[in-house]
Amino acid sequence: MASDLEDLRREIDIVDIISEYIPLERVGVNYRARCPFHPDRTPSFYVSPLKGIFKCFGCGVGGDAIKFVSLYENIPYFQAAVEIAKKYGIKLKLPREEKVDSETLLAISKVAEFYHRKLAQSREALEYLKTRSIEKASIKRFLIGFSASSEELVNFLRKEGILDHYLKSGNLKKVGEDSFVDLFKGRITFAVRNERGDVVGFGGRILEGNGPKYVNSPDSPFFKKSHLLFGLYEGLSYLKDFKSAILVEGYFDVVSLHQEGFKNAVATLGTAFSENHAKVLKKYVSKVYLLFDGDEAGRKALDRTIPFLLSQDLEVFPVFLPAGKDPHDFVSDEGPSALQSLIDDSREIFEGIFAELKDPSIRKRALEKFLKYIPYVQDPVKMHDLVSEASKLTGIPHDALAEKIKPVKSTKVEENSSLPVHLRIFLKGLKTLKVSIDLDTLDLPYKVKSLAEGLLRGEVEELPQEVEEVEVPDLEERFWKIVEDLSVRPDEEVDRRGLRKVILSTSLHRSFGGRR
Ligand code: GTP
Ligand code: MN
Repeated sequence: MASDLEDLRREIDIVDIISEYIPLERVGVNYRARCPFHPDRTPSFYVSPLKGIFKCFGCGVGGDAIKFVSLYENIPYFQAAVEIAKKYGIKLKLPREEKVDSETLLAISKVAEFYHRKLAQSREALEYLKTRSIEKASIKRFLIGFSASSEELVNFLRKEGILDHYLKSGNLKKVGEDSFVDLFKGRITFAVRNERGDVVGFGGRILEGNGPKYVNSPDSPFFKKSHLLFGLYEGLSYLKDFKSAILVEGYFDVVSLHQEGFKNAVATLGTAFSENHAKVLKKYVSKVYLLFDGDEAGRKALDRTIPFLLSQDLEVFPVFLPAGKDPHDFVSDEGPSALQSLIDDSREIFEGIFAELKDPSIRKRALEKFLKYIPYVQDPVKMHDLVSEASKLTGIPHDALAEKIKPVKSTKVEENSSLPVHLRIFLKGLKTLKVSIDLDTLDLPYKVKSLAEGLLRGEVEELPQEVEEVEVPDLEERFWKIVEDLSVRPDEEVDRRGLRKVILSTSLHRSFGGRR
């Protein structure tokens, strides 16, 4: 009978597996060794056969036997699981998606290494990183790279025999019989890792010239921008130790903060912070420092982010940077100790509001802020205490204040008016199915049409959250049905139900390589 990952973990012996790679010395019920993942003079690396895990007290790496093999061999987690299972003669039953993904993931991590090697050969890219004060150690730690040319990448992939697997990542587009375009060409690449440490995709910053400042890998089952946080894996042991995370906005912010010693800094991949991001953080920390740009946009982002964090019962500490400065500029200009002071002096969100409530000149605004955030507090006892405190400070009776609190169902509630579900499915389908379609043959509301046009031109990467969240099992079928329904042009073909069929344009948006 085929086993799943849980069965595999139960059946394998971590000491057996690790001692194939490094000599283990028995100490009581555990085993120890010099850590293979960092220069280790004393044995700081421990293996617990009882718990089935290893942990290095020097560099912080740890995990199960599969994780060890994945790190040691530098292969994705699932690949490691497959290898181990083979050795034990166990037939591994992986969820279907993961089986398909493991080869693509392996290809992605090989490309990350390839970009990383290419960076060392590009004077221009190295020079750029220098001007942004990114050090060698950071380049290595974050596997920063550079994509010099699509052809070189394709040659490399062919040589490795992984071109087809890599194409499934969506990072490389086939645009002709034998021509390909690398999405990251001419860009500095940041390897994005999942919580297990597998490289699942990239963020790329343009060096110069035209085009968007950043591009990210397209969403896929293993690259979900609404779940991934850049810097999370690299900083995981610090997040766990400090029980806190520093949330910033950009790739460079994360790298430079880690470089300056703030190794619990994470960022979304340029997308809005979501409920899922908050859930991920909740697994490791109890506090989140929000370090957003001190400008209006930063303030708005802060406003949108706080409800998600409060909803997961995370303590929120907004840290205010001078207007126009992002965390990267700030540490570069003012140094790490200045940032440390800002962090140390920051107040928990409700503490801050209470201080403002004491000041009559800003009391009204502070009360509004209080009422905006309080509904997201999950623990009723905590909410009661916070309302009592606010009541004391404002003189508004407790019950009167409590009555002003508008209930919120969940942070999933849409910010803006939502699109009808068929239009959401249409957009989601257009994005994920990568089809060519003539939009002028469809009757679409303006907003939907402009999003769709952006998608086809490759300019829109991220759809509104309500669209991204659409999950239907038979997306493709539903999509085509909706396209039929939306069709306005009586182009010859009429199908059985008397609906007009859309004539697909084959000429549009080559970069997506349409399906017909
Ligand atoms: P630098 O300008 O290189 O310092 O980058 P930054 O990280 O400071 O960028 P910025 O503050 O402009 O944006 C913050 C984050 O938003 C970036 O790190 C990206 O993740 C994302 N972002 C910015 N511009 C774009 C863009 O044009 N397209 C996409 N997809 N994301 C972007
Ligand atoms: Mn910046």
